[in-house]
Amino acid sequence: MRVSVIGCGYLGAVHASAMAKIGHDVVGIDVDLHKIGTLSQGDAPFFEPGLPELLREGMASGRLRFTGDIAEASGAAVHFIAVGTPQEKDGYAADLTSVNAAVDALLPHLAPGDVVAGKSTVPVGTAVDLAARIEATGATLVWNPEFLREGWAVKDTIEPDRLVVGVPFDPSTGHCSEAGERAADLLREVYHPAVAAETPFIVTDWATAELVKVAANAFLATKISFINAMAEIAEVTGADVTQLADAIGHDVRIGRRFLGAGIGFGGGCLPKDIRAFSARAEELGRGESVTFLREVDAINLRRRERAVQLVVEALGGQVYKKKVTLLGAAFKPYSDDIRDSPALDVAVRLRGLGASVTVTDPAAIDNARRLHPQLAYVEDRDDAIRGADAIVLVTEWDLYRRDLTPPHASRLTSGRVVVDGRNGWDAAAWRAAGWRYYGMGRP
Ligand code: UDX
Repeated sequence: MRVSVIGCGYLGAVHASAMAKIGHDVVGIDVDLHKIGTLSQGDAPFFEPGLPELLREGMASGRLRFTGDIAEASGAAVHFIAVGTPQEKDGYAADLTSVNAAVDALLPHLAPGDVVAGKSTVPVGTAVDLAARIEATGATLVWNPEFLREGWAVKDTIEPDRLVVGVPFDPSTGHCSEAGERAADLLREVYHPAVAAETPFIVTDWATAELVKVAANAFLATKISFINAMAEIAEVTGADVTQLADAIGHDVRIGRRFLGAGIGFGGGCLPKDIRAFSARAEELGRGESVTFLREVDAINLRRRERAVQLVVEALGGQVYKKKVTLLGAAFKPYSDDIRDSPALDVAVRLRGLGASVTVTDPAAIDNARRLHPQLAYVEDRDDAIRGADAIVLVTEWDLYRRDLTPPHASRLTSGRVVVDGRNGWDAAAWRAAGWRYYGMGRP
């Protein structure tokens, strides 16, 4: 099938490559010509495991190309909208400028029977606002949210755990319209390998599809902040939040995943999505339904400050001129994404207190340096640790969490303080090697 993907960021570049991988003829379109140039050479403009291989394979097969010219979308049966919806500069709401611009640019190239599939995360009600313009061309609008995780984006796109398609409903019958049925069938064809593998395929209305995405992210953020709130209680009672998480996680109704207490969540999705959800709920007159998301955000931000406090305490009450090495800059491992990164936030706060901060990361140093040139960056992990008064684990890359052993660290520095911002290390092993170990919500 001929498919166009408008917006070639994290979401769109992966989606376009994955669509080519499963046999479609794909054109990826973006207004950023620099990005188009990079992708056209088969290079990924960001770090995502498996993406470079997929890009090269797609280009070599002749089924994948990238362009800055939206006119090349014509002839595609399905047009995916995968542009960004960042937080507004002066508020919590999502900025829909790119979504509107992409749809307006696409309109002249739509033909009757085409399907426009929104993938961007948008406030509930966006599809209704866009529909008239799209339907005037004879095309059908569906909302098909994306649940990919950075670092696992390729796998999550090719083998999603569920597919959700919001289609137009006929207000007179209350049923999915005929055009909606046809559009859902077309998307079943698009996602044929997942459909053949009996992946749940949920056909619903626009509003539900839009809400599924924000509700999923709100739930995940809440789960993380819940365990971080327990960490705060553990800190004043001597309890260990990691054991608590193990114990409650055995209950299948709760589950252990996303109960990792530490410096909290960041990235381009969870923080902005919960804020946009609050803003939209307010607009809908239902702000009180999601007031708890403000609390989720507040707990999350407090944990960054708590990590800073732990470093200060561990270094005897002040960090001025103390050498502190931060292991990690990305918001999570297997990513070079530093958007709203808790790791960098902790680094910047420590530097603000006068510490001599060194940051290392296997993938995110270039991005971090652009945003925070005032911090010192060292590529090599061991060089970064050498001579440190304190080591702080802020992004749990294997290179740090799994591979850095206490005896090895002891050979690199005479400082004997580790602050484990991700509760990723074995506290007993560090203590046995003579280190003072500080976890988040652990005695
Ligand atoms: C998230 C959703 O998981 C994904 O479904 C959606 O499509 C986009 O947003 P992503 O931003 O890639 O994906 O990151 P995710 O793996 O969810 O992690 C988010 C943040 O939460 C990271 O900063 C991570 O370190 C933190 N986290 C995660 C915790 O602090 N504790 C946990 O137990 C899990």
